Formats: sequence, C-alpha cells, structure tokens
Amino acid sequence: FAARQVSQSVFGAVQRRAFSATASNASKVTVLGAAGGIGQPLSLLLKLNPRVSELALYDIKGAPGVAADISHINTKSIVKGYDPTPEGVKECLTGAEIVLIPAGVPRKPGMTRDDLFNTNGSIVRDLAKAAADACPDANILVISNPVNSTVPITAEVFKSKGVYNPKRLFGVTTLDVVRASRFISQLKSTDPANENITVIGGHSGATIVPLLSQAGYSLEGAERDEYVRRVQFGGDEVVQAKGGAGSATLSMAMAGARFAESLLKAAQGQKGVIEPTFVDSPLYKDQGVTYFASQVELGPNGVEKIHPVGKVTEYEQGLLDVCLKDLKGNIEKGEKWVKENM
Ligand code: NAI
Repeated sequence: FAARQVSQSVFGAVQRRAFSATASNASKVTVLGAAGGIGQPLSLLLKLNPRVSELALYDIKGAPGVAADISHINTKSIVKGYDPTPEGVKECLTGAEIVLIPAGVPRKPGMTRDDLFNTNGSIVRDLAKAAADACPDANILVISNPVNSTVPITAEVFKSKGVYNPKRLFGVTTLDVVRASRFISQLKSTDPANENITVIGGHSGATIVPLLSQAGYSLEGAERDEYVRRVQFGGDEVVQAKGGAGSATLSMAMAGARFAESLLKAAQGQKGVIEPTFVDSPLYKDQGVTYFASQVELGPNGVEKIHPVGKVTEYEQGLLDVCLKDLKGNIEKGEKWVKENM
C-alpha cells in the first residue's frame, strides 16, 4: 500500500482561470496518420462528434481520399484532407485545438511496442516539430507506440522550440481503461458501460497497472493473474488474431475518440471530466519517473489536476514497483534518443 499525497500546486495559478479563449464551440481537430488503420475509423468517429467544427486530415498517403469520403456524412463539421508536403502539414495543423497522432507503423506478431521505437520515434519527432511550429498551444494526443517513449520525445521537441506546455501533452492510454472495464464486466456479468477501472502507469506490458481494488473488486489467485495479464497484453491478443495485418485499430479509434471528446467537453466548460492519461507528472518524479498515467482531471487549459494514485493493495503495489522500473527506462530511452537525433 502506498497512497501518495502529492500536492498539485504546480498547476495552481493557470488552473484557476475559469474559461480560456479555447473554450468555444469552434473546435478544429487534426488527425496525423488519418489514412491508417486507426486514423480512418478515428476520423469517422470525430466526424460524428457535434463538438468538432472542423476536421483536418493528414497522412503521407491517402488523406484527401479519406476526407472526401467522410465529408459526405451529414453532420455539420467541415472536413479537409491535406497533401504530404510541408505546406500541407502546416495548414492542417494551423488553428488546431486538438492534434491526434496515430501516424506510424503498428506491431506484427512477436513484436513488442518497443520494437517500433526507431521508426515511430522519427515519425513522431518530425510531426511534433511541425505541430510545435504551427500550433504550439494545441492539445497533443500521442497514440503512436511506444507511447512511453513517444510522449517524452514529443516533449523534448517542444522544449527545443521553447513552446513546451506540460498541461497540453497527453499519451493516450484510454484503450487500457476500456479493456480493463470490458474484461471485468465479462468476469462479473456487469454492464461494461458502468465499469470504469482506473489504470495507471504507462502503455505497454508490465507498465500497465489496473487498480481493481479501487472499483471495489477483489479477484484472487489464477483469476486475478489472468485478468491482469489480459489487460496488460490485450493488445497482443489483437495482433495475433490479425495475423500480421496490424494491431488494435477499431477499439483504439473508439478510445481515441473518447479521449478527444473528454478534452472537448472540458474545454467547453464541463467540470469533473477525468480520464487516465500519460502526462508529465509529479507523482513519481522523486524516483526519476517523469511521465506517468493516473487519473487526470481535464479543463480548458488541458491538464487541470493530476490525481494521486490513492490506496492500492499489496499486490497492486507489487505491479506498480515493476511498472516504475520499466517506465523509467522507456522514458529515458526516448529522451536520450531524441536529444541525439533532434
Ligand atoms: P497503420 O500502419 O494502419 O497506419 C499508420 C498511418 O500512419 C498510415 O496511414 C501511414 O501512411 C501514416 N504515416 C506514416 N508515417 C507518417 C508521417 N510521417 N506522417 C503522417 N502519416 C504517416 O497503423 P495503425 O494500426 O493505425 O497504428 C498506428 C500507431 O498506433 C502504431 O504505432 C500503433 O502501435 C499505435 N497504437 C497505439 C495504441 C494505443 O493504445 N496508444 C493502440 C493501438 C495502436
């Protein structure tokens, strides 16, 4: 058990500004990697969201086609696809309130998320540079794996350009929460819509730590181990089932759209919007873990409040200890690589 009561005063002053200029109903949302397995259904779901007024789609191939297709859907938002040129990406990003980044390569069977590091690190670095130049104040939502490293890479790029705002950078871990909630509902025959399992840590294997105890559940023995394994390695189930044709795309699109919706709700003034997400976090900084996913309250300025982890069982603390060790390595790897390859 290790409840950590860390004060969130770092974010104090700005947090109290009730309603910022971004809190309007005109929300431009940009998707980078929009023609991919995640990008297409994600763009489709965003087109169905009445909070989105403009949808800007970019990819190294095929974004104008996806945009033309989606633009026929009878909701009000304007949809534009952009060509893979420096001007295209710039225009796509300019004025964006939210930028979702699912650009990159997905896993094949037998691969870990870390195996994607070099390829996706470069892709995310370059897109982060474009975003830092064109829309430094946007909320940046990193989906491309390994999230534990691509988020620090993005932060370092923004820092190098003097525009880093820790309250506006998010690693999307919503799919872990979605899985944790769905899997417990299958075990307990409950309505998954009513389950909201807190998942903390990072977004790969042992860094994914579901906190069942906080939802009032106590699984034991093999059932508990299997549940935790399934939450931690749910992505592998999909990679294997697709047999080399990609990783989770449809469930991920839903999770990404849900996280974007939460940010839009919070930007448009709704209070108490809380999602676990991987952010620049004070919770374990004393142990050298500079980014961490925990329950985060969202607001018009992005991160409003980072909630402490709270009460955990001895078993969950064991998972957390392993998580912190792995996570520290993943974060440092991203930071080191991008500093050498900026
Ligand atoms: P995909 O290969 O189907 O699509 C990726 C898209 O990115 C392609 O359309 C490609 O043309 C585009 N792209 C590549 N380089 C680009 C660049 N420089 N600029 C713009 N677009 C570029 O892959 P999929 O399945 O959509 O997965 C994308 C990423 O999301 C992968 O890294 C995957 O590991 C990650 N992922 C993350 C999850 C999460 O929970 N955060 C869950 C599932 C996947």
